[in-house]
Amino acid sequence: MTHKIVLLPGDGIGPEVAAAARAALEAVAAEHALSLAFSSHDFGGCAIDAHGDPFPEETKSACLSADAVFLGAVGGPKWDGGGPRPEAGLLALRTELGTFANLRPITLFEGLEALSPLKPERVAGTDLLIVRELTGGIYFGNRQEGDENATDECAYSRGEVERIARIAFEAARGRDGRVTSVDKANVLATSRLWRKTVIALRDAEFPDVELDHVLVDAMAMKLIERPSAFDVILTENMFGDILSDEASVIAGSIGLAPSASLGLTHGGLFEPIHGSAPDIAGQGKANPIGAILSAAMLLRHALGEEAAAATIERAVSKCLADGVNTGDVGGSATTQEVAQAVCERIRAAAPSIPLAAT
Ligand code: NAD
Ligand code: IPM
Ligand code: MN
Repeated sequence: MTHKIVLLPGDGIGPEVAAAARAALEAVAAEHALSLAFSSHDFGGCAIDAHGDPFPEETKSACLSADAVFLGAVGGPKWDGGGPRPEAGLLALRTELGTFANLRPITLFEGLEALSPLKPERVAGTDLLIVRELTGGIYFGNRQEGDENATDECAYSRGEVERIARIAFEAARGRDGRVTSVDKANVLATSRLWRKTVIALRDAEFPDVELDHVLVDAMAMKLIERPSAFDVILTENMFGDILSDEASVIAGSIGLAPSASLGLTHGGLFEPIHGSAPDIAGQGKANPIGAILSAAMLLRHALGEEAAAATIERAVSKCLADGVNTGDVGGSATTQEVAQAVCERIRAAAPSIPLAAT
């Protein structure tokens, strides 16, 4: 069976990291006898330039009929001056695919503890999964934009909270069995509904999972103070956006962090958590590891190819342990050199090597 993968390279460093992810997918497909068919489509700023629309119809239908969608990144100063925004295309894509569950794992790689801005003893043992609600909240409420006044409405329904909380509790069962739900229930009505709903679901369906609640301002502090104290962090759209950038740096760099956006009807959308990084675009400086690990998540979640996903993750661990790194994690390798080093380790890894060996 051939799996159809749509690539949306996007803007800035997007095409550079998407090429790296594609190379890793092609290398692992050869090792695991998978048949992958790729097609690339305009999306984001480059689609505004070519079609006047960040999410053209042709791209939309390709995404909807694909088994999985891989996105590099979109946006940049060129499209910040008024008119259609690349980011609006990304929000429309997430809505169109129904990908309400954004999984953002933050893993501390062996040998890279020293690259964290935190002291090694503070980061030791950090292994987080941020479960971010992705298709609701303030990103999608009514918006009014005037010169004197502007409004961004934040709305959540009980059903929206329940379905993302279920994902977090299920994920916790496969990990350390603990969920920390982050909200601002001392101020926001949506947060009080959030907290009530999360508690009711835990009591009804997940009594075996430990649950606690932390206000988002305190969470920003606690994440830095003791990142290893947390297992699954469940939160709404905007809090998850902010906390995941913060958490990514604990492991060394935002360039290392992958994500999977999952729904109920589509295979999903897979993208590194970083943006288009206009400050380093076109210079071969982008760290491709977040994109490559997003490709591993694609294999696992959209295609059910666990062994191939693990092969990529082992190759990445090995590459990092061998010191092949871009500048953001203290190395001097280019994007392409890191991608090539990962591909070599994918080819060298027999699927039967146990995961514990790395
Ligand atoms: P950013 O994530 O693009 O960059 C933040 C900082 O991290 C920059 O200094 C950048 O050089 C660095 N960085 C990011 N990715 C890196 C990588 N792979 N390797 C090494 N360093 C990396 O965030 P920003 O500067 O706030 O946003 C730039 C543009 O990207 C904006 O237009 C924003 O809307 C967009 N954006 C898009 C996405 C997406 O497409 N999913 C995500 C976030 C931001
Ligand atoms: C992300 C990005 C997006 C978000 C933007 C570009 C719309 O920051 O994927 O984290 O806020 O979700
Ligand atoms: Mn973000």
